[in-house]
Amino acid sequence: MPMLKIFVGTMYGGALDVAEQLRPVFEEAGYEVAIFDQPTLNDLIGSPTDLALFCVSTTGSGDLPGNIVPFARELEAQSPGLDGLRYGLIALGDSSYGDTFCGAGRQLDALLEDQGAQRLGERLEVDAMETFMADDEALPWAEQWIDEQQLKVA
Ligand SMILES: Cc1cc2nc3c(=O)[nH]c(=O)nc-3n(C[C@H](O)[C@H](O)[C@H](O)COP(=O)(O)O)c2cc1C
Repeated sequence: MPMLKIFVGTMYGGALDVAEQLRPVFEEAGYEVAIFDQPTLNDLIGSPTDLALFCVSTTGSGDLPGNIVPFARELEAQSPGLDGLRYGLIALGDSSYGDTFCGAGRQLDALLEDQGAQRLGERLEVDAMETFMADDEALPWAEQWIDEQQLKVA
């Protein structure tokens, strides 16, 4: 079974909740799913990753949540090259923060792209000003993502 790894960056658990809600959607699509809520670079590159999904909220002023900072630092420092990695990205944010809206998700997206990884489809940006429960947007997005990118394997 192909492996989908979900990497979570969260302060208050919203992004982790999204990851957990998405697990059965990907299992039904034929994936083995692993969720990393204290991710390290080794979780991504130390074992095969057929598909990756990043669920990342923003804190501070466009900053990455602390639990995913080590991952981002290792990615920058080690610059492993991620050619062949396909990923999706769900950013949680709040547009009342203005210019830093979904800043962490955008930052991580740029880092992954710099390493040669290929994002499939558009990034989903969930705005807490408009959507109370991020799952309400993330679930249909994931279903559509699987469909449009032809990711179903079972
Ligand atoms: C102290 C603090 C700072 C925040 N800074 C930003 C920000 O700069 N940009 C943004 O889009 N959202 C910002 N947010 C909003 C969170 O990203 C948003 O509420 C998100 O849904 C939280 O998800 P989580 O439960 O996974 O941490 C901030 C929230 C808090 C509490």
